[in-house]
Amino acid sequence: MSALQAWVEGEAGSSVKVGQDSRMAPRPEAKPAISVVGLGYVGAVSIACLSHLGFRMVGVDVAKDKVEAIAAGRSPIVEARLEELLAQGVEENLVEATEDLVGAVLTTDATFISVGTPTAADGSADLSYVREASRAIGQALAMKSSYHVVVLRCSVPPGTTLDVVAPEIEASSNKRLGEDFGVCFNPEFLREGVAVADFFDPPKTVIGASDRRAAEAVEAIYRAIDDKVIFTSIAAAEMVKYVDNVWHATKVAFGNEIGRLCKAMGIDSHDVMNIFVQDTKLNLSPYYLKPGFAFGGSCLPKEVRAVGHLADKLGVDLPLVHSLGETNRRHIEQALALLEPHRGKTIGFLGLTFKPGTDDLRESPTLELMAMLMACGETIRAFDPNLRFGPGLESQIAYVRHSAPHLADLAERLPEIATSDENELLAECDVLVVSHATDRFRRAVEARAPGTHVLDLARLWPEPPEDPSYEGIAW
Ligand SMILES: NC(=O)c1ccc[n+]([C@@H]2O[C@H](COP(=O)([O-])OP(=O)(O)OC[C@H]3O[C@@H](n4cnc5c(N)ncnc54)[C@H](O)[C@@H]3O)[C@@H](O)[C@H]2O)c1
Repeated sequence: MSALQAWVEGEAGSSVKVGQDSRMAPRPEAKPAISVVGLGYVGAVSIACLSHLGFRMVGVDVAKDKVEAIAAGRSPIVEARLEELLAQGVEENLVEATEDLVGAVLTTDATFISVGTPTAADGSADLSYVREASRAIGQALAMKSSYHVVVLRCSVPPGTTLDVVAPEIEASSNKRLGEDFGVCFNPEFLREGVAVADFFDPPKTVIGASDRRAAEAVEAIYRAIDDKVIFTSIAAAEMVKYVDNVWHATKVAFGNEIGRLCKAMGIDSHDVMNIFVQDTKLNLSPYYLKPGFAFGGSCLPKEVRAVGHLADKLGVDLPLVHSLGETNRRHIEQALALLEPHRGKTIGFLGLTFKPGTDDLRESPTLELMAMLMACGETIRAFDPNLRFGPGLESQIAYVRHSAPHLADLAERLPEIATSDENELLAECDVLVVSHATDRFRRAVEARAPGTHVLDLARLWPEPPEDPSYEGIAW
């Protein structure tokens, strides 16, 4: 049993950690030793903080100055508390550093990779350092008999851990993933400047692992600072890191655009945003963030246009705000593209209003999609329990005509396209396009005739069915 395994089993199973040799009397097991490849902002912080938790750490870098700094207990970077923790680690013989990656892996149980992934000339992530480190780790594993966990901490395109790191290690070690070694992707969320504080109080800890043994080993390492580790697939863990940073960048760009606009109008942007951030029900919340269909309705498209127009009039350049209508249109076009293979079939829409629970048809993206299909000559039908038939429908249609003249044709034909009989639609249509996640439509989809294809625009179920006749727009 490796020290890593013993640590995991001891930590996970009981407070007593068994020794390496099970024939010997149980004795307190040392925590697994961890090597860290890449002693930049991420690696140096990991070394310092994990040593503070009692792990023996071996830092590795190709840069001699960083190795020398860490080995001497000096911080190679400016970062609050880092030097103090490194000095303490060296003092307690828990921190060492070397340029010898193979040697470091051989004397440790787990290896964290935190080398750089800079932007390559074509805009992609340059994975050459990741590849190089993985190959060297593999060379070490070729000489090692015990199980080893390799944890990728770099920000990388989804697929890197399993398609680059693991194969490089397998090729240079002749060892098998899941048997001789495991791989995990464990994104780093620290913010420079408060990196040590973030390490001990992380916003979240996410682990994507090749197998349970690897997952448990890494969870055990983090247990002292986070007992609510989020487990997911390796690809989702890789994606989470990218999504976080794109989101942060979006927030900064959004705040700054609002700031430029407010300044041009003599409004204090901080007054505005201080109020904005207090709304944790709709503004800073999961609301509006889960992929679904395009935005629509009587407010969002109109207000986005109005703010864009205001900015233009004031001579303020707001590319982010201006891009919103375009990205929304692309989403509708994506639905159209997903229906392309079903051309010539009868397409039935479940849900026409811009969201469930309202009869408001204004700027419903579903109507846009229907109009696009009609322009292509497709046969469409529609059912929405919120549509009022008879004279009521005429007033709803009048709204559409008024707010979207380009939908006039569709508005004209809506009385013949729309049916008040859901079953009639289900019987007639070869394809169902569902835009409201309601129980009624879930039941309708489940009851559809065999062979009826479904395009789900609303994520009807948390776990979408694994069925070739079902497709989601963005999942
Ligand atoms: N800096 C951050 O705030 C931060 C936060 C989260 C994630 N990340 C991600 O973590 C990764 C590391 O970021 P960083 O800012 O620490 O990078 P960095 O450039 O500061 O450090 C990378 C280190 O890796 C070393 N290195 C490169 N190849 C090596 C090899 N083969 N063997 C040993 N050492 C090698 C370099 O010499 C360098 O010291 C990147 O993927 C980055 O995107 C960074």
